[in-house]
Amino acid sequence: MKIFSLQPLLQAAILAIVFSATGRAEDSVPAAFSKQELDAKIGYCKTCHGLSGQGFRGASPMPRLAGQQPEYLENQLKAFIERRRTNPVMFNVAHVLSPSMVTALAAHFKDLNPKPLGGAPRDLAPAGKKIYDEGLPDANVPPCASCHGPEAKGEGAFPRLAGQLHDYLSRKLANWSKERGQDPAKPDTSAIMEPIAHGLTEQQMAAVAAYLSDLE
Ligand code: HEC
Ligand code: HEC
Repeated sequence: MKIFSLQPLLQAAILAIVFSATGRAEDSVPAAFSKQELDAKIGYCKTCHGLSGQGFRGASPMPRLAGQQPEYLENQLKAFIERRRTNPVMFNVAHVLSPSMVTALAAHFKDLNPKPLGGAPRDLAPAGKKIYDEGLPDANVPPCASCHGPEAKGEGAFPRLAGQLHDYLSRKLANWSKERGQDPAKPDTSAIMEPIAHGLTEQQMAAVAAYLSDLE
């Protein structure tokens, strides 16, 4: 595998991820809600994200949450609440959630394992697999697998991408800098992906999204 030169910002962000994985004091706080309240909230999430968290294609793609890394899922809910990640729907959903509810929701979705929704043009997948496994050395794009894992299951703050809706993935990559890292005073984990998203053409985004969307 080729060694890529990561910019200092990237290195700092990666260190921040590594160190944030330790010392999560809130993990030991007892739940401040009943099982009924948790179930009701999970049911609410599933009206948009699908009955098994598999995602849903409505007016816009609702991302798959099933099997998602809890740390990534919690990071995104916090980012919506603090408007570092812009999405009016998810701001409204997330800002009423207590920290212990967020943790319980993340644990619930992690354990779901439905089949991917699929639906991407299959002829794009081989080119997408090549980008995922090898990156694009000429564009200084590292292999996606080096952070998201060889099977795209993610780890910690690095999200699972396997089985994610292809139209959601392409849109997120194309809009990266408009939606994430929106508070310059609070740089976050989204900075790691920014140069990578910028290094892909629209066609390459569609290819890697098609490949990932069928992975179980
Ligand atoms: C009214 C519909 C709706 C409801 C209800 C809803 N969501 Fe969402 N959610 C969305 C949409 C749309 C997006 C995609 C936002 C985007 O494109 O950036 C999203 C994105 C997310 C993301 C980011 C996923 C990723 O891969 O980055 C998380 C995490 C999430 N929702 C969790 C939840 C949880 C937990 C609940 C229940 C408490 C919930 N959502 C309820 C519509 C909804
Ligand atoms: C240097 C590590 C690294 C590499 C290499 C990398 N990513 Fe990421 N990626 C991340 C991190 C960290 C996040 C979470 C960003 C956040 O917290 O907002 C992420 C998030 C994403 C998301 C958003 C997922 C969602 O559910 O919204 C997509 C899509 C994505 N990456 C695709 C890719 C693709 C495609 C490649 C290869 C071309 C790639 N990544 C390479 C670190 C990396």
